[in-house]
Amino acid sequence: MKMKFFLVASMVLFCILGISEGGSLRKNFYKKSCPKAEQIVKNITIQHVSSRPELAAKLLRMHFHDCFVRGCDGSVLLESTASNTAEKDSFPNLTLEGFDVIENIKEAVEEKCPGIVSCADILTLAARDAVSVQFENKPKWEVLTGRRDGTVSNSNEVLLNLPAPFHNLTTLRQIFASKKLTLHDLVVLSGAHTIGIGHCNLFSNRLFNFTGKGDQDPSLNPTYANFLKTKCQSQSDTTTTVEMDPNSSTKFDNDYYPILLQNKGLFISDATLLTTKQSRNIANELVSQNKFFTEFAQSMKRMGAIEVLTGSNGEIRRTCSVVN
Ligand code: HEM
Ligand SMILES: *[C@@H]1O[C@H](CO)[C@@H](O)[C@H](O)[C@H]1NC(C)=O
Ligand SMILES: *[C@@H]1O[C@H](CO)[C@@H](O)[C@H](O)[C@H]1NC(C)=O
Ligand SMILES: *[C@@H]1O[C@H](CO)[C@@H](O)[C@H](O)[C@H]1NC(C)=O
Ligand SMILES: *[C@@H]1O[C@H](CO)[C@@H](O)[C@H](O)[C@H]1NC(C)=O
Ligand SMILES: *[C@@H]1O[C@H](CO)[C@@H](O)[C@H](O)[C@H]1NC(C)=O
Repeated sequence: MKMKFFLVASMVLFCILGISEGGSLRKNFYKKSCPKAEQIVKNITIQHVSSRPELAAKLLRMHFHDCFVRGCDGSVLLESTASNTAEKDSFPNLTLEGFDVIENIKEAVEEKCPGIVSCADILTLAARDAVSVQFENKPKWEVLTGRRDGTVSNSNEVLLNLPAPFHNLTTLRQIFASKKLTLHDLVVLSGAHTIGIGHCNLFSNRLFNFTGKGDQDPSLNPTYANFLKTKCQSQSDTTTTVEMDPNSSTKFDNDYYPILLQNKGLFISDATLLTTKQSRNIANELVSQNKFFTEFAQSMKRMGAIEVLTGSNGEIRRTCSVVN
């Protein structure tokens, strides 16, 4: 009797947890309606990333920007119109790239099954598949599908919802919490900075004028600061970029954490992860690569479920850059 109650109770709990993690997203949502969808996304993503490895970082970041502004609804893909400035044209869009890849995939999918597969799902899958290319295309995390596309994209919402490179831990935690993500998710997902680049102007106050006295950020490793100064010309250098994970910026590994722990995190938003015992302990645990990969997979699933539109909400865009 007790056992039976326990079973039922845990099944109920399981369902609740399932819902909070993925909403009504599910595995292989297009299995019947467009059986080849996921394979098409994968094939085209591989083609692009094979010739341009830096696209893995671009697509991963684009997915993150999509999810944090109005949920993972493909709103980041929409173009501005005469009467509306879209997310794409807000300041933090710096180097968002890869829109061509998403449109390319969308065209191929539309050819097979018109009006079925959302741009939001395509972006979520492509981000995963792009990072997975390096792992012989073995999916690096599971992606649930069934997202629908939003119809609103507003540049003003980007600054309010997206974490900034100068944010401290308190602010980052607040922003993540507002997306139902934890401190643990924050430290784990920041590990995405193991791939990709950053523009000098987003961190060079740490090199040249941290408190307005021509000083350096004392929390930045001085040797690394000197190295960065050989790259960045000045505080207002908006064109030069540096690898966030030196010499390994197209390799998705867990180097982010040992580098961070040597006080070589590039942005204030990276360095600030070391400022409390709790967050520093999480970073220490993620120095184990297996642990990082497992945790990253779980946090990506939670990020990919932020405020998703499902069922009859939203629409399935015909073209990812414009609403129907
Ligand atoms: C914790 C808060 C975060 C902040 C403040 C932040 C900020 C930034 C900034 C300022 C850049 C450099 C952009 C440029 O100069 O072009 C960047 C790059 C990047 N971010 Fe984040 N990020 C955060 C979290 C994330 C998350 C959660 C992901 C994905 C899961 C992510 C993935 C990336 C990637 C892959 C790049 C490299 C883009 C490229 O190579 O063009 N970031 N991030
Ligand atoms: C994907 O690529 C593989 C290998 O190149 C090929 O065999 C397969 O037919 C492709 N699938 C689709 C749906 O394009
Ligand atoms: C970013 O926004 C600016 C305007 O603020 C725009 O000129 C530029 O094309 C945008 N970049 C991308 C990649 O959309
Ligand atoms: C973090 O930044 C916010 C906003 O700028 C500020 O109000 C707060 O005092 C800062 N917190 C810490 C611990 O520095
Ligand atoms: C450093 O910042 C202060 C305060 O913003 C400013 O007055 C000063 O001109 C800056 N110095 C340099 C070298 O940019
Ligand atoms: C990156 O490579 C360059 C040139 O090979 C080397 O001088 C530098 O020390 C390397 N940096 C790191 C952090 O390994």
